Order: sequence, then C-alpha cells, then structure tokens
Amino acid sequence: MALVAIFLLLLLVVVIGHRRKKRNSGLLTNWPVAGMMPELLENITRIHDFATDVLKNSGGTFEFKGPWFANHHFLVTNDPINVHHILNASFANYPKGPDFKKIFEPFGDGIINSESDLWKNQRRMYQTLIGQSKYEPFIEKTILGKVVDGLIPVLDHVSKSSIQVDLQDVFQRLTLDNICLLVLGFNPHCLSVEFPKVECKKAFDDVEEIIFHRHFKPQSWWRLQRWLQIGREKKLTRSLKVFDDFIYKCIASKRHELSKFEITDESNFDMLTTYMKKQEEKQEQVDCISNSDKFLRDTAFNLMVAGGDTISAGLTWVKETWGEDCLEFKPERWISCDGKEIVNVPAYKFTAYNAGPQSCLGKGMSFIVMKMVAATMLWNYRVEVAEGYPISPSLSIVLYMKHGLKVSISHR
Ligand code: HEM
Repeated sequence: MALVAIFLLLLLVVVIGHRRKKRNSGLLTNWPVAGMMPELLENITRIHDFATDVLKNSGGTFEFKGPWFANHHFLVTNDPINVHHILNASFANYPKGPDFKKIFEPFGDGIINSESDLWKNQRRMYQTLIGQSKYEPFIEKTILGKVVDGLIPVLDHVSKSSIQVDLQDVFQRLTLDNICLLVLGFNPHCLSVEFPKVECKKAFDDVEEIIFHRHFKPQSWWRLQRWLQIGREKKLTRSLKVFDDFIYKCIASKRHELSKFEITDESNFDMLTTYMKKQEEKQEQVDCISNSDKFLRDTAFNLMVAGGDTISAGLTWVKETWGEDCLEFKPERWISCDGKEIVNVPAYKFTAYNAGPQSCLGKGMSFIVMKMVAATMLWNYRVEVAEGYPISPSLSIVLYMKHGLKVSISHR
C-alpha cells in the first residue's frame, strides 16, 4: 500500500514538473502506465480547445495512448486527406466497430448506431421517405407553424417585457417541438411564453453529455459505474427512463389512433405513422423495419437527436460561424470573385454534416429550418448578447453553448 502511495506521489510530482514544458510544445507525454491520460484529464474541461491545439501542433494527425491496462488508444485526425480517405474513399475499411456501439448504446439499433445491412436498409428507408414530393412542403408547413405560433409570440413577449432570455433554450424548445411533430406527429408545446418545464428536453441534454464523457473514460471504468449505478451512469439510467416513458406513450397512442381511424390526410406523414403503415403493407424495401415498439423507439431516438439539438446548436452559434462582420451584407462569402459560382467547401474539409456514404440525411431539412428561423429573427428583431456573458462550448456530443446564450430582444 505504502509503495503504491509513493509511486503515485512520484508520478504526480513528475507530471506537474513536466506540465509547463509540454504545454509549450503542444505534444503530449506518454507516461509509463498512465499513458497520456493525465494531460487529457487535466484538460477535460477545455477539451475542444485542447484537441485543436494538439492537432495543430502535431500537423493534423495525432495518436493518443491511454493507460496500459485500459485498451484506450485512438487516432485523432482533422487532415482533410485523411478525413476523405476514412469517410469516403475507403469507407468500407473503417466500420464504427463494437466500441462505438457500446458507447452509443442508448441509440439502440437506430441508424446512427448500426452497420452493414441494417444500416444500409435504414438509410434506404429514410431516403425513400425524404425523397417524396410531399416531404419538403410538410417540413415547411410544420416549421412555419412553429415560427408563427411559438417563436414570434415568445420573442414578442420577451421584447415587450424587456427581459433577458436564453436564446439557446428558445431554439432547443422550438426544435424539440418541431422534431416531435416530424417524427412522432405530436406537439409537446415546449415553446410557449410560460416556458414550461420539459423533462424530456433535460433528459436529452443529459444523455448527450454522458455519451460524450464515455469517450474519454476507459470502458471498464464507466461499465463498472453503470453496474454499480453511481455517478454519471446513474444519471444516464434515469434520463433514459424519462425518454423511454415519453416515447413509448407516443407509440402506444399512435397505434391506438391508427387502429381506430384511417389517416386520410396525405399531407401529414410523420415518421412513426409512415413506418407503422409501411410495416403493415409489408413492402419489400422495408424488411429491415421491425414493427416492435423497441425498434420504433430506437428509430425515434436517433432521429430526435440527429434532427433536434443539432439544429438548435447550429442556430445558437449562427450569430459566431461567419465572424464579427456576420451581420454585414457580404455576398463574396458564398459567391466566387467573378460572381459566377457558389463557393462550395468540400464535405471532408467542413465535416459538420459528415461526409461520404454516411453523410447526414437531414442537411436539406436543417437548412430549411435554420433559414426560416434566422430570417424571422433578423427581419423582425434586434438581438443583443448580454454584456460580458461567457460564451464557450459545452462538453457534449452536440456542440451547445455551455451557459446558454443570454440576450435581450427588441423589435426592429
Ligand atoms: C444543423 C443540423 C445538423 C447537423 C450539423 C447534422 C450532422 C450530422 C452528422 C455529423 C452526422 C454523422 C453522424 C455519424 O455518422 O455518427 C449525421 C447523420 C445523420 N443525420 Fe444529421 N445533422 C443535422 C440535422 C439533421 C436533421 C434535421 C435530420 C433529420 C431528421 C438528420 C438526420 C440524420 C441521419 C438520419 C443521419 C444518419 C446517416 C447515416 O448514418 O447514414 N440530421 N448528421
């Protein structure tokens, strides 16, 4: 025992001694036994900046070595040539693998967590769904409804009352209502002037944060926590229960609705209704789709994470992406110097929507939603970020703002 304590103390002294020196070089020390874990843990609260620094200093590709006993080694790269090779050119050689499936286990057998035929069939199914001519009008109708009945009344209320509001919270509520309508055909009315407490929204935030943390812990550690039901893993179990209770209720009520009434309004085709109907028709191309509640739950969960928080996070950072002059009319940002072409950045250089065969299927939809919301905001309101408000990214698989975005709103 005493020997272990002395060893740990020595390790600590050496770590602290080397810390400053290494910080300047930007490369990590591979310690005996502990590997590069000490520096990772030391920087965990600023992991995005830390990863950027390390990648910059290592030329865009970096091999992380975890503790000897933990089998926690990985390669990190943001070099566009490598990204292209992995996500596109040699896509088949880079399956997500069993570790990904374990970390993302709350996603069940949904598209984001599946591979091979299950993934291919689900992807084909989504493509069929979004390829229908009525898809876009349905998206537009739904989001327009949310803007008119939800966003505008809330922003008017904030503006009239001269209060500050967390704009990220507003966008999260809007996109949760929107995605629930698109996926489940149900409006939870999260976005209203009462700002109701939404358990499901909090549960989503927690799940995304905990999955993010699982990436940095040795698997044996978080699995032990899960088994003992302590720490973040306990919180995850609670949050998943909240989500599952919500989703299974929606599935049961949709089944009831379908058994009682024939849905004749063709302009309404939320995902749940479509999948249930297709399963009944037993079309060949939907063989992958099981009619079990669990499969519908997994599908809904995947789409709600993929298409809900991603959009609200994108909207919150909108006002950052284009720099300080983002409000200025500068067409040269997107149009070539001779004014003849749209400037397209290749997906493997700007990987926000992923690239290659597994690229995002909701990009078109997210643009419709973001444009409608951004245009409504810019046209009608003046938005001012609260003075001195801290803006930094959260630790989550979706890049939120850690403290939200406090703003005041006034009419133009
Ligand atoms: C700003 C908004 C969005 C961003 C930044 C975004 C980003 C991404 C990324 C990075 C992936 C790859 C995930 C992975 O392979 O692990 C992905 C996949 C996916 N996204 Fe999106 N997404 C957005 C909106 C949407 C929307 C609105 C939907 C529709 C509901 C959607 C549906 C999907 C689906 C189904 C996949 C899985 C594709 C596959 O595995 O083949 N996304 N998205």
